[in-house]
Amino acid sequence: MDIAVIGSNMVDLISYIDKMPKEGETLEAPDFEIGCGGKGANQAVAAAKMGSKVMLVTKVGDDLFADNTIQNLENHGIDTEFTNKVSGTSSGVAPIFVDQESKNRILIIKGANQHLMPADVERATDKLKTASLIVLQLEIPLPTVYRAIEFGYEHGIPVILNPAPASKELDFDHVCKSDFFIPNESELEILTGMPVASDAQIRQAASVLIKKGVKNVIVTMGSKGVMWVTKEKAQTVESHKVTANDTTGAGDAFIGCFAHFFVKNGDVLHAIKMATAYAALSVTKRGTQSSYPTSEELEEFLNKGV
Ligand code: RIB
Repeated sequence: MDIAVIGSNMVDLISYIDKMPKEGETLEAPDFEIGCGGKGANQAVAAAKMGSKVMLVTKVGDDLFADNTIQNLENHGIDTEFTNKVSGTSSGVAPIFVDQESKNRILIIKGANQHLMPADVERATDKLKTASLIVLQLEIPLPTVYRAIEFGYEHGIPVILNPAPASKELDFDHVCKSDFFIPNESELEILTGMPVASDAQIRQAASVLIKKGVKNVIVTMGSKGVMWVTKEKAQTVESHKVTANDTTGAGDAFIGCFAHFFVKNGDVLHAIKMATAYAALSVTKRGTQSSYPTSEELEEFLNKGV
């Protein structure tokens, strides 16, 4: 197994809106799409689309969304042995609002994702041990995230932690046992309580996490690119100039693609560059997983030199 993602899945209910209604107001919106999402599933699908062998440890409900979610993962060649149903619970759903500037606002109702427990990590240990990389986010209970970090640490398997959505309860005694900590700017701001308005401020905030023991902080900054901070240095990779149609799930696209290239050859800078291009290409299309390119599409984009 190349990559084990332990995390969430959601059904994305995406409304494309002209503006948000005020309290008590009814407004018509031009468009709606339903798609497969959830940060864990998105990252798994991005890595699988790039050609990695991926497993997803996750939980779905026992509603009409569950089978479709499992089928979608399987259609992408993802191992769903540890994608389990929880009876009497709804699947995770995410109402998403994308405005005319392609910016999004996301609500999550975690549903079955709240039932992914440390015991589920234990149950999957035989298969997890075969993974070259573990990928985690924060749409599942924190004790499960901590157990998975510990598992990776015990077995010498590198761990990526994407602290999304940001939680102030995140315990850095656990976090610093992960190898890559990948927040976006606003998550970095919430987690450190520090301003992130300039590159210098982002570097300072990331350095605080490095001082807490995190080895690599990779901050995704949207159209401003990506900053990679370690104890020794800070390095920025510029983003590609594209016309954005929907930025939803771009961070997950970055992580899935980064995971793929990191497993392939261990070159962090190369993986960041590829993932930056992959995320840029993803925002040119609508939807989350449906906007993720294949490896051929990524290659074509890179050949164009955008
Ligand atoms: O990061 C984007 C994702 O956040 C969406 O797919 C939505 O499901 C939420 O989990």
